[in-house]
Amino acid sequence: MYRATERFVMKIVVIGGTGLIGSKLVTKLGEHGHDAVAASPDTGVNTLTGEGLPEALEGASVLVDVSNSPSWEDAAVLEFFETSTGNLQAACQAAGVGHYVALSVVGTDRLAESGYFRAKIAQEKLISEGPIPYSIVHATQFFEFIKSIAAAATDGDTVRLPPALFQPMAADDVAAAVGRVAVGTPVDGIVEVAGPEQFRLDELIRRRLAAIGDPREVVTDPNASYFGITPDERTLMPGPDALIGETRLEDWLKELAAA
Ligand SMILES: NC(=O)c1ccc[n+]([C@@H]2O[C@H](COP(=O)([O-])OP(=O)(O)OC[C@H]3O[C@@H](n4cnc5c(N)ncnc54)[C@H](OP(=O)(O)O)[C@@H]3O)[C@@H](O)[C@H]2O)c1
Repeated sequence: MYRATERFVMKIVVIGGTGLIGSKLVTKLGEHGHDAVAASPDTGVNTLTGEGLPEALEGASVLVDVSNSPSWEDAAVLEFFETSTGNLQAACQAAGVGHYVALSVVGTDRLAESGYFRAKIAQEKLISEGPIPYSIVHATQFFEFIKSIAAAATDGDTVRLPPALFQPMAADDVAAAVGRVAVGTPVDGIVEVAGPEQFRLDELIRRRLAAIGDPREVVTDPNASYFGITPDERTLMPGPDALIGETRLEDWLKELAAA
């Protein structure tokens, strides 16, 4: 990430700045000398109602949206991303913000079977068709999300997952990539980021559950649902130009165990 110079300290407002990626991002931007402001209901900023947005955005040059909907129910998540993005765009225009950055998911455009991803598609459409220069960062699944993948695919003592390839990454590397994009020039397009290794969903979850003595059995099922979609082998994979995070899963697990 580019370090701020005395003449070039940017005010960067991070919507969802108290969340997993947001809190790491606010810390990293601050370490690089920028004026990073965490914005979320916890800090008095609500993108659904617009509360606190004009005050938070005063003097800001960049907005980064790494928020997430509290509910993933189809209608609720669509309402969250559509309403929030509309309110954010209006507030950014009023404040003269020149770069709108948002975090989304690798393959989003291929995942419209899922209500969650239809909401992310709607968010991206508003941003790309909107008036503010923008950059959308597409990240692969976070290592921190692996537990939720197993939980969502569990029925009793069985975890049913398709053998789809994926290339997960550490939330720290996601935050670093978003930070780099935020202090750069708007790309008016998508930047992909991914982890350094590829795995199959079913195999990785089977390995992880065995490693922690979890008794659930992982069944490989090409027709199993993954958050409402049935991915084929490469649906979740990034393209050849993706930027690659440095943290390998084994190293991340070691650090987690040490902590
Ligand atoms: N999970 C993955 O593997 C993955 C992969 C690629 C991309 N992504 C994307 O990454 C993004 C961030 O995910 P995350 O896991 O870091 O999220 P998270 O930890 O769940 O944090 C969500 C943040 O959104 C804030 N928020 C909720 N409602 C809000 C509102 N009405 N107004 C303003 N802020 C609000 C929360 O604030 P409070 O704490 O105050 O409620 C919190 O700071 C999501 O857009 C997701 O699509 C996720």
